[in-house]
Amino acid sequence: MKKIELFPLTVFCLPLGFPPASENAPDMRQTWIDRILQMRRDSEPPQSAISAWTGDVKGHAFLHEDPLFASLFANIARGLAAYIGEMGIDAGQFDLYATRSWGVVAEKNERVNRHAHLQSHLSVAYYLQKPPDGGRLAFLKSDAPNEFIPGIFESKMASLFKGPRTGSNSSTTLIDIDEGDLVIFPSKTVHATEPHQSDTPRISISADVIVTLKDATGHEFALPNLSHWKKFNA
Ligand SMILES: [Fe+2]
Repeated sequence: MKKIELFPLTVFCLPLGFPPASENAPDMRQTWIDRILQMRRDSEPPQSAISAWTGDVKGHAFLHEDPLFASLFANIARGLAAYIGEMGIDAGQFDLYATRSWGVVAEKNERVNRHAHLQSHLSVAYYLQKPPDGGRLAFLKSDAPNEFIPGIFESKMASLFKGPRTGSNSSTTLIDIDEGDLVIFPSKTVHATEPHQSDTPRISISADVIVTLKDATGHEFALPNLSHWKKFNA
């Protein structure tokens, strides 16, 4: 018997770590954490007791414009180039733009509900603080190709399932991200987090990235270079 696995989703997990602190260099990890917690304090109180604070919908959506985060975004740029190269694509032919970036803070029992960043091409998440017992990151198949019965691999139909559970018969895959890791994935991928279990909050930075071609001649479905874009003036 030959079993052929087709079309895997690739999630890139890069151990960026943190800038080293010294007598002369500030602790950038703590500086970034403090800045995000300040943003949370400055924004409206949460509307749900179980939803993590996400700065993108609270008026804090452009960390990439803040010089405080410049070194981090330089590292994210290198990670994105590595991801694109790993996918066998010539990164040198593309320009990448951060369009939105924000902090996420999850206190105990808080979670991020399932969603996708449909307005974006690539998304990243960088884990500034992630206690070992913090909630894992979940990726969900939006078109589970092996579900010959709708929902057959979902937990609501677990009584029909014998196992073992693998990537081929799962509608959800949970990934335990380590502190300091940079995660990169296609923005259209549906994702969520488990409820956070630790008394220490999970603090991360997310960013959305648009990819354009330096020269889009002959490539209908890739965005042309920004130099060709013109704003309509009504
Ligand atoms: Fe997200």
